[in-house]
Amino acid sequence: MASGDTTQAGTLSRRDFLKLMGAAGTALTFAPFVPWGKFMPNPDTAKLEKVKVILPDGNQANVNTFPVNHAEVVTYPSSGDRVLDEEAFRKWQFIRLPDELGGSANDVSAFRVYSMVCLHLWCLWKYWPQEGRKRGECPCHGSQYNPLTGTAFAGPASLQAEPSNTLPNLDLEADADGNLWILPAKFTPNDNGVVGYGRFIK
Ligand code: FES
Repeated sequence: MASGDTTQAGTLSRRDFLKLMGAAGTALTFAPFVPWGKFMPNPDTAKLEKVKVILPDGNQANVNTFPVNHAEVVTYPSSGDRVLDEEAFRKWQFIRLPDELGGSANDVSAFRVYSMVCLHLWCLWKYWPQEGRKRGECPCHGSQYNPLTGTAFAGPASLQAEPSNTLPNLDLEADADGNLWILPAKFTPNDNGVVGYGRFIK
């Protein structure tokens, strides 16, 4: 896409952008060749740095204390502005996998962080730890996400072509004390993915 197009998208107000996207509807599904990552309202990657995984109680998540088969909402990247931080595009499900999927490991392999914006029509999904579920579920039209991979396996999001069937994710690191950190994200479909659009599985 020409740089002029990028500039134009940059001046679009968020409200206009969301109206535009609403009108576009399922066009996302049928136009995987469009470089959506260039103008989707994702955080500015240029300023991102390694940050703590801060839980809703204000504490940093730790490998030694976060429960197996459990999820919390985390904000990334946090702007420090309470209103901005409420944006759906900054909300992620921080999940410790169930035991049978490796959640008891004492390192970052036990964890996943996925964008909460459902890849179908942008409702917010969440992880359900109950027996017989243990998956991400979207309340709007029933899309279900595999907690191990972030790929939709049921519902309308599962019918979308890649990368729009797999949630964006964040990479983690644990320090010597077990404290968890989010590594700087790169919001392109081939890296951490594009929030609201998807991610190619490598
Ligand atoms: S918005 Fe999630 S299934 Fe439709």
